[in-house]
Amino acid sequence: MELTDRTAVVTGAASGIGLALTERLLDEGMSVVMADVEAERLAAEATRLADAGAAVLAVPTDVAEIAQVEALRDATLDRFGSAHLLVNNAGVAAGMPSWRTPAAVYDWVVGVNLLGVAYGVSTFAPLMVEQGEGHIVNTASEAGLSATPMLGSYHATKYGVVGLTEALSMELDGTGVGVSCLCPELVDTKIFEATRNAPEATGLPKPPPIPMSTIEGFMHTVAMDPRDVAGQIVYAVRANRFWILTHSVTRTRVAERNADLDAQRNPRSPFGR
Ligand SMILES: NC(=O)c1ccc[n+]([C@@H]2O[C@H](COP(=O)([O-])OP(=O)(O)OC[C@H]3O[C@@H](n4cnc5c(N)ncnc54)[C@H](O)[C@@H]3O)[C@@H](O)[C@H]2O)c1
Repeated sequence: MELTDRTAVVTGAASGIGLALTERLLDEGMSVVMADVEAERLAAEATRLADAGAAVLAVPTDVAEIAQVEALRDATLDRFGSAHLLVNNAGVAAGMPSWRTPAAVYDWVVGVNLLGVAYGVSTFAPLMVEQGEGHIVNTASEAGLSATPMLGSYHATKYGVVGLTEALSMELDGTGVGVSCLCPELVDTKIFEATRNAPEATGLPKPPPIPMSTIEGFMHTVAMDPRDVAGQIVYAVRANRFWILTHSVTRTRVAERNADLDAQRNPRSPFGR
């Protein structure tokens, strides 16, 4: 899809992958509607970009609320007249055993990661189909293609996003609207501090800042720069590629998981027992 002089909507745009992508899309000549639940941080980043001459609009949005996603669409149309690229990128995580995850935490993680993506699709796709042009990128994760312990609620939503996005791609085939599914491995963002946005009802504490080097240590990997992920997203949109797998190790892990499935072996933790 052509990007120049067109409009993008990016959720989770105040931080990490969403912010890096916003900056990249502006460099590509797009106008960008930045949506995020962290209103202060969103306003600060949008002001910084606007002061440098960028065509941005900040719309504080909780993607888990359909009325707010519809308001995001209306604000986009009011300001820019149409939406050509939607990136359903906002996401959160809470690490704990699935069987000890309280209902309020499930509600939060499912609301943001799965319903947020679904609401974005059902709100914006009809506009794109009608105009016969557009592209939707849904952010899943490598965690949507294979599982590890302690992130059950996250895996449940990210597997859900992969399924929804595969179905959407088939449904929109031939409409002029492309679909991509982003499945990153570790990226240098604030996702490990995601409980900063958790509703009080979850009982989750506000996290301390966690150095990325600590996370790299226990995950035995090196985090990717979010600007490199943004570059991969832009390439996939232009080339109309469905899968955006940032690291080749994802394919190895999926192959192992599928081999287990094929052989009917029980799931095994990559970290051992
Ligand atoms: N960083 C990684 O290693 C990694 C790996 C795989 C997938 N992902 C996915 O990438 C996406 C972006 O996360 P990130 O890594 O940039 O983390 P991040 O925490 O830096 O950014 C996420 C943004 O989403 C916003 N957000 C949270 N709840 C929201 C809500 N209800 N409505 C609107 N916005 C909300 C946050 O305020 C934040 O600005 C997420 O979907 C995440 O699951 C990240």
